[in-house]
Amino acid sequence: MSFQRCELDYKKIVRDGYNKVSHEYYGDSSCDLNKGSIEWVKEIMDRFPAGSRALDLGCGCGMPATRLLAEKFEVTGVDISEVQIERAREYVPNVKFIQADIAEYNLLEENFDIIVSFYTIIHIPLEEQFDLFKRIAGALKPGGLFMAIVGYTAWTGTEVNWLGVEGATMFWSHEDRDTYIKWITDAGLFIEWDRFIPEGDSGHTLILAHKP
Ligand SMILES: C[S@@+](CC[C@H](N)C(=O)[O-])C[C@H]1O[C@@H](n2cnc3c(N)ncnc32)[C@H](O)[C@@H]1O
Repeated sequence: MSFQRCELDYKKIVRDGYNKVSHEYYGDSSCDLNKGSIEWVKEIMDRFPAGSRALDLGCGCGMPATRLLAEKFEVTGVDISEVQIERAREYVPNVKFIQADIAEYNLLEENFDIIVSFYTIIHIPLEEQFDLFKRIAGALKPGGLFMAIVGYTAWTGTEVNWLGVEGATMFWSHEDRDTYIKWITDAGLFIEWDRFIPEGDSGHTLILAHKP
């Protein structure tokens, strides 16, 4: 596959964007474990014993997925936005939170039982995504699970004043469902299932895969 290199600093756009919209995306009053990823995470929690190691890539403010995982597992959360990480440290004190770009974050080999990433890989320039899946596959222990929200239809673009916040620009970049199935499989993971998760006029793909 071949991609053109990005000229704009899309990582800075996304980081600055989430720094600005953090509270609009997940308000303080909605921190009651009430979002969709709760049900998805619950589906995999029983598959590992307490104390297993979990990683949330693009953990946001730690709500709701990181907090739920932390009820049973030893969790690390990584996010590019300092505002999101600051809030996450407040909401979920028993988790190690790191502010970093997940496309560059040093993923140690066979280090995690569970890796989740909800609505985050869709913010990473396409040319970096396959390499990230390979590193995720490498970082899972054999039998480990990867659960992620990725794209359903291919689209790359930006939106200004996102979530009604003046001056907040956001960037998304995603391939279609079939490409993600291929990339994740080619990265060395076995896809257990995928589901269409509707949102507005379109939607995303939720994928569950394991490392053989
Ligand atoms: C849509 S939010 C999702 C947050 C959380 N996973 C959830 O489901 O509520 C996307 C998050 O990904 C983070 N993010 C985007 N690109 C990133 C990158 N390259 N590295 C780390 N985090 C990133 C953003 O800062 C933001 O907190």
